Amino acid sequence: MQKVRRGSKNVLTIVVVLLSIFLTHLLSADDEDADLLKKAINIFGTLPQAMTSEKNPITSEKVKLGKILFYETRISVGGTVSCARCHPIGLYATDGLRKSIGNHCKVNPRNAPTILNAAGQISAHWIGNRKNVEDQARQSVIGPPSFGMPSYEAVVKKLKEMKGYGELFKKAFPIDNDPITVDNLAKAIGAFERTLVTPSHFDSFLKGDITALNRKEKGGLKTYIEADCIMCHSGPYVGGQMYETFGIFEPYWKYTKSEQIDEGRYVVTKNDADQYVFKVPILRNVGKTAPYFHDGSVDKLENAVWIMGKIQLGKDLNKAQVEEVVAFLKSLTGIIPEDALKIPLLPSMD
Ligand code: HEC
Ligand code: HEC
Repeated sequence: MQKVRRGSKNVLTIVVVLLSIFLTHLLSADDEDADLLKKAINIFGTLPQAMTSEKNPITSEKVKLGKILFYETRISVGGTVSCARCHPIGLYATDGLRKSIGNHCKVNPRNAPTILNAAGQISAHWIGNRKNVEDQARQSVIGPPSFGMPSYEAVVKKLKEMKGYGELFKKAFPIDNDPITVDNLAKAIGAFERTLVTPSHFDSFLKGDITALNRKEKGGLKTYIEADCIMCHSGPYVGGQMYETFGIFEPYWKYTKSEQIDEGRYVVTKNDADQYVFKVPILRNVGKTAPYFHDGSVDKLENAVWIMGKIQLGKDLNKAQVEEVVAFLKSLTGIIPEDALKIPLLPSMD
């Protein structure tokens, strides 16, 4: 009898001890999550609803026109190139090629980045040789490897020949006497791009929903913070706010096996300190934008992450660390705005 009682007392003690270990673990996991959330809010802030600009306020008429122009091939030299060719919105606004193909099969010098969440960066292009999305759109139409038009006048002439554009430009720029200009084309396309924000699970997490990321993704976020990826890729777009040397610890081409060595921002500034310096790219939707780096030299995100650790931070991330960082980065895959996915009707020639 006594033996049995002692036995059940022991069982009870074990149960109590196990329960308390379990509860402490639960509570400390909760504390850890709360701590991770607090850190993440400080590092990343809040994704805005649109990437506004004082110089180019977003209006629905501008966005409508901008989206049409985004699909317009008739303002390219061979009549086949539009922005959508290299930035198809439904494919996360990039073309999957190492280097894009422009008019008359010309190969672009670099890989096409996504244009989703891109308008909030310090500049546009890998080497920052475009001021903002408006400047980028303006120069694109005469850029030899993209639209290849001979002049801005030729672009305006083409737009004026297509009857439907008169009214669309007038509505988007009502106070202009002669609204069909390349500046207005750039503003309209820019306004459209400024609406392309893609909130993801990670944003629900940042809003306080700790369950929005699973355990592996949270582990990845923690490693991403502790390994110091945040030194460069932080803020609401997870990058896009500074220029940095690609290959701080070792030359990048040793790891990327790049066929050509790109001098980066040096090409723009001719300043020795800018050799191999590139804009820190945004990492939103990075799970969908392979191949990676300015020359598309690396196919797998796992490789890109490991290379980053190695040559930007001098850290040899192990397989498990790389995998959880990749899981975190994939939680940045967002929802493309419904309206941006609908392909617009283009104005007819007459
Ligand atoms: C032939 C393919 C091609 C076409 C057409 C094209 N792009 Fe691009 N786009 C690229 C490539 C390649 C880059 C990177 C260029 C570089 O950094 O040197 C780029 C870069 C950009 C960027 C900068 C993104 C960033 O993160 O820095 C934006 C924005 C952009 N394009 C928008 C547009 C718009 C708008 C149009 C139409 C007016 C357009 N592109 C037409 C291939 C193309
Ligand atoms: C010192 C700054 C710096 C640090 C730290 C850094 N990066 Fe980068 N990252 C860059 C730059 C610059 C590039 C662009 C390289 C190029 O020109 O292709 C880049 C590119 C990338 C890319 C490729 C993106 C694309 O669209 O092709 C990924 C992915 C990436 N970084 C992830 C990480 C991760 C994960 C870490 C931490 C392990 C990290 N980075 C640490 C500066 C940094």
